[in-house]
Amino acid sequence: MNEIMRVGLFAGIQIRSFIITTLCVLMIRSIVNMITVHFKCRGGIYPRSNVERFPVPDDKVSWSSEYKEYLPNNHTASSIRGQPWADPNIGEPGFNPQWNAMDGKVNRASYMGQYSIKGGYPLNPIGRTGITGRGVLGRWGPNHAADPVVTRWKRFENGEIEKDKLNNKPILQCVVIKRRDTGEWALPGGMVDPGEKLSATAAREFQEEAMNSLVMTDDQKVPLMEKFKKFFSEGDEIYQGYIDDHRNTDNAWMESIAYNFHDNSGSTVGALKLHAGDDAVGVQWVDINPDMKLYASHKEIVMLVYQKCLANFSHGNN
Ligand SMILES: *[C@@H]1O[C@H](CO)[C@@H](O)[C@H](O)[C@H]1NC(C)=O
Ligand SMILES: *[C@@H]1O[C@H](CO)[C@@H](O)[C@H](O)[C@H]1NC(C)=O
Repeated sequence: MNEIMRVGLFAGIQIRSFIITTLCVLMIRSIVNMITVHFKCRGGIYPRSNVERFPVPDDKVSWSSEYKEYLPNNHTASSIRGQPWADPNIGEPGFNPQWNAMDGKVNRASYMGQYSIKGGYPLNPIGRTGITGRGVLGRWGPNHAADPVVTRWKRFENGEIEKDKLNNKPILQCVVIKRRDTGEWALPGGMVDPGEKLSATAAREFQEEAMNSLVMTDDQKVPLMEKFKKFFSEGDEIYQGYIDDHRNTDNAWMESIAYNFHDNSGSTVGALKLHAGDDAVGVQWVDINPDMKLYASHKEIVMLVYQKCLANFSHGNN
């Protein structure tokens, strides 16, 4: 190979990897804020109440479409009053929220861009939900959560990675917990504490929600968490944006940042026996596939993780 060819080939590879990198970046950009319409927070009775949501047809979700008949109930659960994690009511003396910004240690900025304020109340960036007030959510405007997606390849006893019989692709599994409120399987996430680092929230929630369901004494658990420290320090950000959550209202909604913690070799967290399929235990490894049912927008997030891990796998990284 002469020098010109070599340089040409090298440049070709460079351009190709540039294009691939750019495509990946574009892909990741488009998965941020991917939710453009909500379903789970429309219609029916608001959770833990007897308050009915005003019907909102698909074409009336957006604030920009006129809906003259719209007369939603106003509901803020009395149970959240005075809670340390909850805001006071709007208009209460001394409560001067800084919308669309960091407000002291409380993040009132949205991943969805600037949200509007109408009559002193923040407006859901996706649109109408059939109910005003905060419902059971603590914050007016965005309520920030962090969700850990902990994954491993499914393996046979001998360590070999199990392939899906239909498409011959390796099977990825993630940890899900059973939610106490709805009984649905969900990512073991939780609310971000004011001032807390987001990836730390994700790791803490995994520990609190998933590890605590394990039948284990504290003496056994503490060294295990010590062993997992490095693993949980290296998460990949997968999604940040709105969550179609059944608790959302016109003035308060869930947003999340999701991190993937992938145990490629299955030697750390992947080695945890989480009683797969055992409903009573409330935590398990599940196979990720398009037919799985998960809480809120968690399935969409998990499918993004699946695509990412599979791409890494098929690029010969294993
Ligand atoms: C909604 O109800 C609360 C009391 O729960 C009240 O303080 C508030 O003014 C009401 N909001 C509207 C827009 O009517
Ligand atoms: C990608 O593959 C490499 C090499 O096998 C592995 O070390 C890494 O954990 C994988 N990362 C993800 C996110 O799958």
